[in-house]
Amino acid sequence: MIVVGSGGKHLEEELRRLDGTLIEVEIKRFPDGEKYVRVSGSSREVTVIQSTFAPQDEHIIELLLIADALREKGAEKLKAVIPYFAYSRQDRVTKEGEPVSVRAIMKALGVYYDELYIFDLHNPETLRFFPGKAVNVSSARAIATYFSDKLGDGIVLAPDKGARKRAGAVAKKLGLEFGHFEKKRISPTEVQMRPVDVEVEGKNVLIVDDIISTGGTMIKAANLLRKMGAEKIFVAATHGVFAPGAVERVSKAVDELAVTNTIPTPVSKISIVPDILEL
Ligand code: R5P
Repeated sequence: MIVVGSGGKHLEEELRRLDGTLIEVEIKRFPDGEKYVRVSGSSREVTVIQSTFAPQDEHIIELLLIADALREKGAEKLKAVIPYFAYSRQDRVTKEGEPVSVRAIMKALGVYYDELYIFDLHNPETLRFFPGKAVNVSSARAIATYFSDKLGDGIVLAPDKGARKRAGAVAKKLGLEFGHFEKKRISPTEVQMRPVDVEVEGKNVLIVDDIISTGGTMIKAANLLRKMGAEKIFVAATHGVFAPGAVERVSKAVDELAVTNTIPTPVSKISIVPDILEL
């Protein structure tokens, strides 16, 4: 049984089509702005699907209210599937007095949920803050399937070494070579990038990252690949956390931009719903 919060509404139609059994939930606001939630059913085991893109705090509160309502109706086991996990980038204290925000949210969810599934978490090590079973789900299947007939004998690249594992997983599914961009600081204001482990000239290239925000990382990589003689340049990411104007800027710099639907955006062309239904 599945409950979909307002941060998962954009996935609901496909969830129904692919045979997910949904419990209806009414979500509205009290006149003072507080959230009101009412679930129309329950079951011994329920999965709550809620992505926590903006307005992030609202989506997090809903996760708690829905879980409380389901427990009230007798649910014994609750799973949270959170396609995009907000606050995931605040995973350390950089200035004294700051919280580890990702820890705060995971601990709060742990009061209600037994299991937590997150797609492509920014720092998978932070899953340890959740007291129950916590799983980082890969979007590699979804991304590879979408690009399977677009790349020919092209290559897959990660925009930096840290993202290599993710790009490698996509490349493996496509049976293609992969590499990453190496960043070298050449002055206090200038960082030089170059792809390592692969030859890009004359090849179609897919660059894969977890998040696109301003688009700066992808645009820089794409411009460099053009100069180096790459053929078509495709850009993919799990989470399109686009800053204003980023979709247009990236789209202009590459042959195609596609992200998954962990967040609804005009370029969320890749669906993770089949992966959710397998959890
Ligand atoms: C960084 O750690 C992430 O993996 C992304 O590379 C980053 O968030 C992309 O940001 P932007 O689109 O602003 O360059």
